[in-house]
Amino acid sequence: MNAPPLARLAVVISGRGRNLKALHAAIVDGLIPAAIVGVLSNRADAEGLTYAREAGLPTFVVPHVDYADRTAFDAALAETLHGLQPDIVVLAGFMRILTDGFVRAFEGRMLNIHPSLLPRHKGLNTHASALRDGDAEHGATVHFVTPQLDGGPSVIQGKFTIGAHDDVAQLAERVMTEVERKIYPQAVAWMARGELRFEQGRAAFRGRPLIEPLSLDDL
Ligand code: GRF
Repeated sequence: MNAPPLARLAVVISGRGRNLKALHAAIVDGLIPAAIVGVLSNRADAEGLTYAREAGLPTFVVPHVDYADRTAFDAALAETLHGLQPDIVVLAGFMRILTDGFVRAFEGRMLNIHPSLLPRHKGLNTHASALRDGDAEHGATVHFVTPQLDGGPSVIQGKFTIGAHDDVAQLAERVMTEVERKIYPQAVAWMARGELRFEQGRAAFRGRPLIEPLSLDDL
């Protein structure tokens, strides 16, 4: 019997690309039945592009500074993405707010990872916000992307207890190493296998709507 076709993955980045590396490693290890068909960046100097090129992945730069406004940039990004015919669009440290039109074009097949325990701390500076509010726990969330910024249905969260000496830099590091690089490949693997879907505006896992996000401990 033939193996089912690999899911076509487009990864959209702006920076270091540590999530991209974790995803690529999981693909190479056979944990995600997918192929990365493109790594897109809005910044030509994104460190993650260097990794992608060295790994032999196709790269595309769509510099936001070349476009008059958000709508024009999103149209160019969407055109590049459509050309790749992705089954899954993975936002991995992509630091641009997307227009509703763009989000609608990829709704249901676009995931994001956010460095907080959503719905707490949407937007930027999440680690500082968690410290400021005296949170006991911190972590990251993978969610479907909808027009509500950081507000789409959550899929999986990973968390840890904030230590007495954790500062912003330590929290950022812990979120990446203890949580993000584990939960993002897992979520993308579920999508690629068809176990995770977006149905009627909600996340559905193995045929049932998710009432609350899955957790690393459930795995
Ligand atoms: C991650 O913490 C992600 O949650 C946030 O930006 C960081 C991206 O890091 N949106 P990288 O580019 O994957 O290294």
